[in-house]
Amino acid sequence: MSRAAVFRRGAGALVPALLRELGASGAAVVADARVRELHPPPCDAPLLPVAPGERHKTLDAWRALLDGLAALRLDRDGVVVAFGGGVALDLAGFAAASYLRGVRWVAVPTTLLAQVDAAHGGKTGVDHPAAKNLVGAFHLPEAVLVDPGYLATLPAREVRCGLAEVVKHAVIGAPALLPRAGREDPAGLVEEAARVKLDLVARDPRDRGERRLLNLGHTLGHALERATEYALPHGEAVAVGLRAACEVAERHCGFHDRAAVEEALDRCGLPARAPAPLPAVLAALAHDKKRAGGRTRYVLPVALGDVRLFDDVPEALVTAALKGRLGA
Ligand SMILES: NC(=O)c1ccc[n+]([C@@H]2O[C@H](COP(=O)([O-])OP(=O)(O)OC[C@H]3O[C@@H](n4cnc5c(N)ncnc54)[C@H](O)[C@@H]3O)[C@@H](O)[C@H]2O)c1
Ligand SMILES: [Zn+2]
Repeated sequence: MSRAAVFRRGAGALVPALLRELGASGAAVVADARVRELHPPPCDAPLLPVAPGERHKTLDAWRALLDGLAALRLDRDGVVVAFGGGVALDLAGFAAASYLRGVRWVAVPTTLLAQVDAAHGGKTGVDHPAAKNLVGAFHLPEAVLVDPGYLATLPAREVRCGLAEVVKHAVIGAPALLPRAGREDPAGLVEEAARVKLDLVARDPRDRGERRLLNLGHTLGHALERATEYALPHGEAVAVGLRAACEVAERHCGFHDRAAVEEALDRCGLPARAPAPLPAVLAALAHDKKRAGGRTRYVLPVALGDVRLFDDVPEALVTAALKGRLGA
């Protein structure tokens, strides 16, 4: 959730008016360097570039942003404008959360994944050698301006990764999206898919209960990412994790619609298998289990639009669902 989410073509151009409305004493645009080459920044405030890619979502990059904000002498009434995908937004949001103990920020997401998922909900942060997203803060943006026009330049693989989250959100709370995913222009699916997250976040801003349902496909997806040392992109790992979760759900809680989910993922060009060895995946799951206090909780669909948390899933079911989905 943000204080406001706007979904419309040209939404990025609303930034100058929004800064005036917020009474911003100044602003800085934190922009993904690649996006900046492709699209004009949403306002003409000074620019702080961030290098593209997850490997730049680091404490060093965060520190460089703080140096930049300090050099600009942004004060407490200043506003950070984040422009890019989830990496730029997580970094910019965390810089805004920590600079002067918190200044306001506005998110202008430019990837499908960020428009549907990462920009919403106020989780900000960076990776640490010990774990992904280890350091961060909850800090809601003043507004998320979602402009589907930015998606026109997005590489096909990034579009597919975003579609994995669209399908996930469809299963969680918008089943009508399922037959549309992979058939229609993804730009037309963004708002409905994002609303699923906005609703859950509104009910559970601090991620203590219902918001965890957004982890559908992610417990296994994260294990697949770790087992491939992050060679497998997040969206592709989630797609395989989601397929496996549906298979587990079929056996554990009578889920009947696995075929519809698998077909949607197939249509989106998302993989059915992950190139990871089973022992490495099981080790990654065991590691997460230890971190979660000895219990792995799985989010499973009981029906389309009805997902629940289960902490009684037999490990053998998970192993069986994974086995058929590993290898090239
Ligand atoms: N805060 C949250 O709640 C949350 C939720 C989900 C994911 N995330 C985070 O989001 C990150 C992934 O985000 P992402 O998938 O947006 O990746 P990303 O920010 O790395 O962007 C992917 C690539 O697309 C390029 N790009 C961005 N917009 C473009 C455009 N319009 N045209 C052409 N190229 C463009 C970028 O330069 C980059 O190379 C991860 O770090 C993940 O942890 C955060
Ligand atoms: Zn995800």
